[in-house]
Order: sequence, then C-alpha cells, then structure tokens
Amino acid sequence: MPAPSHDALMAALATVNDPEIRKPITELDMVESVEATESGHVVVTVLLTVSGCPLKDTITRDTTAALAAVEGVTGVDVRLGVMSPEQRKQLRESLRGGAAEREIPFAQPGSLTRVYAVASGKGGVGKSSVTVNLAAALAESGLRVGIVDADIYGFSVPRMLGVQHSPTQVDDMILPPIAHEVKVISIGMFVPGNQPVVWRGPMLHRALQQFLGDVFWGDLDILLLDLPPGTGDIAISVAQLIPGAEILVVTTPQQAAAEVAERAGSIALQTHQRIVGVIENMSWLELPDGSRQEIFGSGGGQVVADSLTRSVGAEVPLLGQIPLDTRLREGADNGSPVVLSEPTTPAAVALRGIARGLRTRSRGLAGRSLGLTPTGR
Ligand SMILES: Nc1ncnc2c1ncn2[C@@H]1O[C@H](COP(=O)(O)OP(=O)(O)O)[C@@H](O)[C@H]1O
Ligand SMILES: [Mg+2]
Repeated sequence: MPAPSHDALMAALATVNDPEIRKPITELDMVESVEATESGHVVVTVLLTVSGCPLKDTITRDTTAALAAVEGVTGVDVRLGVMSPEQRKQLRESLRGGAAEREIPFAQPGSLTRVYAVASGKGGVGKSSVTVNLAAALAESGLRVGIVDADIYGFSVPRMLGVQHSPTQVDDMILPPIAHEVKVISIGMFVPGNQPVVWRGPMLHRALQQFLGDVFWGDLDILLLDLPPGTGDIAISVAQLIPGAEILVVTTPQQAAAEVAERAGSIALQTHQRIVGVIENMSWLELPDGSRQEIFGSGGGQVVADSLTRSVGAEVPLLGQIPLDTRLREGADNGSPVVLSEPTTPAAVALRGIARGLRTRSRGLAGRSLGLTPTGR
C-alpha cells in the first residue's frame, strides 16, 4: 500500500477542531509539520496556543483519530509544541478579524448577536437557573450561545453548567470554557477559591468590559448575561457597553418579589433598553395527586408584566411560568441543566417553551422605551 499523501493527511487534520476556539487546527496554523514514513507511520507536531493547555488531551485524541482513519496510516505519533509569541499574535489578529483590540463585538452596529440581560429584583428567584437552562436549550437547538456570569456577588453559572476548567489565556485574549455547547465566562473563574468579591462600581465596569471585549466569543447568535440582583451598577454598565441588550425579568409569584422585580425592570426605562418579557419561576409545586400547591402565592409574573407594560407603554408579555421541581435544582447542583437531562419534566418543558419563543422572535419596537417625554402644555 502506498504511503498516505501529505494532502490526505492535511485534509484529515482539517477535520480536527481546536476544542476551545472551535475552528480547524489547520486554519489556526497549529499544525507545524506532518509526515508519514513509507510504512504509513505518521508523526504530526501540533502547536498549542499556550503550554499546559487544559484541553491538550482532547487535541491529541482527536488528531490521532482523524489521522488513523486515513487510508494507509498504520500508526500515529502526536507531538505537542507551543506557539511562539509571534505565532500567538498572528492567531489573535486572525481571530479578531483584523478588528481593533478590545472592541466589544456585540456593540458594533452590524452585530447579529442578540444580547439578553437576565435581571431580577432579589436573589434566589432562579435567575441563574433560568439563564443556564435557556442557554442550554438554545444551544441544543443549534444556535451558538454564550453566557456572561456578571453576578459578581453570587456567581453560580460555572457550577450549574458543570464547567470543569478555567479559561485559557492567549496573552490578552481569553478563551471561554465550553460546557453543553455553551461558551461561558464568569467572575468566579478569576477569583481564587470561593473568596467573596468586594469590588466597587468602576472595577465591575472594567471586569464586564473585559468579559465582553477580551474574551474570544466567535460568532454568537445569542449572548445571555446573568446580572446581579437589583438595579445596581452592572445594569447601567451593560446599558453603556451594549446599548442593544434587551432585558428578561425573572420573578417569583410572590407579591413582594414582584414589586422589586418591577423596579429592576423599570431601570430599562432610564437606559432605553427593550424589555423582552417576564419569566415567573417557582410558580407552583405539583403534588402527587396532580394538584398544584402555590407555595409562593400566585400572580406575581403577570403583575410585573402588566405594570411594566404600563410604564414602558408597549406590551411586555409574561413569557412563561416554571414550576418548582427538585430535578431542576439537582441538575443545577450537578452541572447538567434539566432541559437536557430531563427534558420532559414540566419545568424543562416550560423552559424549552420560553427558549423557543426567544429563538423565533423578531426584532421590533415592542417593549422598547422610546425615550419620549411628555411635553408641557
Ligand atoms: N423552579 C425551581 N425548582 C426548584 N428549585 C429551583 C427552581 N428555580 C431555582 N431553584 C433553586 O433555587 C436556588 C436559587 O436559584 P438561582 O438560580 O441560584 O437563583 P438566583 O440566580 O436568582 O439567585 C438554587 O438552589 C436553584 O437550584
Ligand atoms: Mg444567581
């Protein structure tokens, strides 16, 4: 049997994606050399972006599998090297498509990414659970999805998605870890251990800016931002950094929660951002006999939707009601979102329904404050 050709080997390598950047290693100039002996033994040298890249085993495995499938290959030897600073610089420039460094791609006029900021009045209403499950459901439907966990004080997204490793840093470019096909970056990945973060406004703003500008997101269809509860600095930073971001308000059915959720939502009035709608979580608990127990009362979601509708002067719909479900909580605790692990549970069905609505909605003026103020008579 003839030794495999160089072209055949390169074609096989073109099917291997860098696990973080999600582009072929050939396109990223990561293949330094590949050669086959007469007897079909292949030696390939792959350059990692940084030494100690957490995914080097994945690259080795995928490269071996791709080459072993080429006709005439009898053995594969993968050698790993590291890019030089010059090669890394070229990579960064090509990934950024020649754009100026530190530009926020989602704020550019031509950006096709829809940005949803998930807001709530209080903590503990399920904002992060909703964010993670919507992201997982949207990614499963084939969209390219990212999450920025901007809840500085209560970051929980990495755990809920089961993110195992920290981001790889290629000089000043950060490659977000990917879990359940969702790219995710969290403040929790940058603080050692479980330390509390005691940052103030300007530092928060800078951190958010870095998450949006220095992280290599690639082309995303949807970016979800998990905001801290309330109407704090981060919400204002989001409005400044990504003026096109739209707001999803999460509340429980409880009246007290609804009132604060409404306050969080109405910040959009000041920032002229569009409110996509309201999601009510923990709406009821289904009992074994099929009846519903309304643990946190009822009606909060609709109350918030109606009241925001009045204040923005355009319809703000109630997008869905998610029941209490132990399996949702368990999924969050062990890193497997319930929409994927138990897609037929009522909570998962509700979440998938909301995700479907987000996927198919069109841009328009509904829910957007036009920033008009009544003139005096
Ligand atoms: N519908 C639900 N059913 C059961 N547990 C839930 C539900 N929504 C959230 N939880 C649980 O409640 C807690 C708070 O949710 P979380 O998403 O962290 O809220 P937030 O981000 O608003 O602080 C978590 O332990 C989560 O697993
Ligand atoms: Mg949270």
